Amino acid sequence: MKEELALALNKQMNFEFYSAHVYLAMAAYCSGESLDGFANFFTVQAEEERFHAMKIYKFLNDRRQRATLEAMPEPKNEYTSMLDVFEHGYAHEQQNTKKFYHLADLATDDREYATIYFLKWFIDEQVEEEALFDSIIQKLKRIDKDSNAFYMLDAEFAARSFTPPAE
Ligand SMILES: [Fe+2]
Ligand SMILES: [Fe+2]
Repeated sequence: MKEELALALNKQMNFEFYSAHVYLAMAAYCSGESLDGFANFFTVQAEEERFHAMKIYKFLNDRRQRATLEAMPEPKNEYTSMLDVFEHGYAHEQQNTKKFYHLADLATDDREYATIYFLKWFIDEQVEEEALFDSIIQKLKRIDKDSNAFYMLDAEFAARSFTPPAE
């Protein structure tokens, strides 16, 4: 694979680690607000992002490219509401989808088929990620100031757990 593509994949691996950081900071904010279910949602989300990063890490190794770990920017630690948290999460996922499209463009230009097929998994995953955040935003808007419904959602999120997808 061309160096530009290898470097872009490495950048994406680092961005996935950063995403884990962003979501763990969201989890910490939720814990601070005593919303343990929401905190669990974001802890699981952070685990997923770490799994994504490791998937790229392994792919780079398999393709005999050197993975390089970079410094991470400080994630946003303060939010104003759960809606604010999820809106930032949604924007983060939309930004991430664009990054995968750019990677797919590079891989296609190189006719790097192994990478093109590898990226397909992530592009499908981004559809799920955006749909998930969008649906929760819609729920939070409908719930508005109904605190019973809000705590029911918190209880629902307490049950979320991370299961690595089968290869
Ligand atoms: Fe991800
Ligand atoms: Fe994600």
